[in-house]
Amino acid sequence: RMTRNLVLRHNVIKFMRDYLDKEGFIEIETPIMFKATPEGARDYLVPSRLFPGQFYALPQSPQQLKQLLMVAGMDKYFQIARCFRDEDLRGDRQPEFTQLDLEMSFVHRDDVLALVEDLFTKMIPVVTPNKKLLSSPWPKFSHHEVLDKYGSDKPDLRFGMELFELNDIFAKSEFRVFQSTLDAGGVIKCIVAPRSADMSRKEVDALTEVAKSLGAKGMPTLAITGEGVKGSAAKFVKEEEVEALKSKTGAGVGDLIVFATDERKVANKVLGGLRLWFRDKLDLADKDMMAFAWIVDFPFFAWNEENKTWESEHHPFTMPKMEDLPKFDTDPGEVLSDAYDMVCNGYETASGSIRIHRRDIQMKMFQMLGMSDEEIQAKFGHMLEAFEYGAPPHGGMAPGIDRLVMLLADEPNIREVIAFPKNQAGRDVMADAPSGVEPKQLKELHIKFE
Ligand code: AMO
Repeated sequence: RMTRNLVLRHNVIKFMRDYLDKEGFIEIETPIMFKATPEGARDYLVPSRLFPGQFYALPQSPQQLKQLLMVAGMDKYFQIARCFRDEDLRGDRQPEFTQLDLEMSFVHRDDVLALVEDLFTKMIPVVTPNKKLLSSPWPKFSHHEVLDKYGSDKPDLRFGMELFELNDIFAKSEFRVFQSTLDAGGVIKCIVAPRSADMSRKEVDALTEVAKSLGAKGMPTLAITGEGVKGSAAKFVKEEEVEALKSKTGAGVGDLIVFATDERKVANKVLGGLRLWFRDKLDLADKDMMAFAWIVDFPFFAWNEENKTWESEHHPFTMPKMEDLPKFDTDPGEVLSDAYDMVCNGYETASGSIRIHRRDIQMKMFQMLGMSDEEIQAKFGHMLEAFEYGAPPHGGMAPGIDRLVMLLADEPNIREVIAFPKNQAGRDVMADAPSGVEPKQLKELHIKFE
């Protein structure tokens, strides 16, 4: 199995190289010992022997370097790029991983999407003839739309079970839970689970616990059976409401309607999570299907409640929608960005954006993130200087190769498609790394432990 996975990985990378070479892309290696490039994780640092107290940072991605290559006139760049991020690990995250990193000059969003979509659409049948694409062209959703419809910004589109909003149907509901949600300005939403009307009390209780772990306060249900409606909401829901519900959602005998009643964000998250629970329980997703989609029009800023600051939703080099620029000062939460994600089967498989190529906008962006002018100069002076030399408009993206090969290989964890991976705790248990070093080495690096 491991051999098969490594051969598949080789074939994927070879296809990418050949395809991009034919399209006129140049493969360029960029340094591993560099300076911090923020992608939202912690940096791995390398102490300098020659400059006591100073450190290189390993790149979280080659983001700044590929942009500088565009300014330098390279036009079309790619790299099978190793990235390093000190973050909590999950089944689809390793501390070092590989991206197909690419960047192009003089492009709009749809040029980048078209190139990557064509690459993947041609590659899948060659490297994995057993896999089918859900659709060609791939569907495109706005960030707002996908959350409302699937409760997730990385939806699994291999099965239906969309979320429905029911505020209109229950506007005059006498069910206290529904009433108080509407009074508080919240939403009543539901999903319809097929073949689940006869779920046992115990199973519904277990599911309620899942809903609570996702933030729900409760989980009303309505089971549609041959003998009328059952479930915890049954006695509070009027007959005409049940009829309206059936005609809106298409629910019929044998189905279980699961409600979420909360503020929109929470309701979406709860139902998005329950949707995946039913996927696994009812085996709703075809394992040979690759359901790719594009998510576009992301919010530009994310509000950090803890620090009371705005943060960039993608990374700080992403271009806002030009028409939203005036909202920077008045309404930052409403600004949209020219960023995009590629998703597949419930995973984020790539992301990218059109970049800021104007010094004034980049400067403004750093200031919005709360950085002082000195800090901006010290960290990103080289980028700002580059933008003075007539930087071309540019954009690109970076599919995660490990995640993609994991999906193609039907593996549940990216470790299975990486040679010599780290375990979930970030250790190489074979070589036993990380490990202590000789006192002499520490001395040379001017490091003392506390
Ligand atoms: P981003 O941080 O979204 O974007 O990463 C792009 C893709 O890389 C993969 N990925 C990972 N894979 C395994 N382990 C990890 N720890 C991990 N982190 C990310 C995912 C993800 O979609 N510079 C930008 C791209 C750009 O704007 O061009 C970037 O790195 O598949």
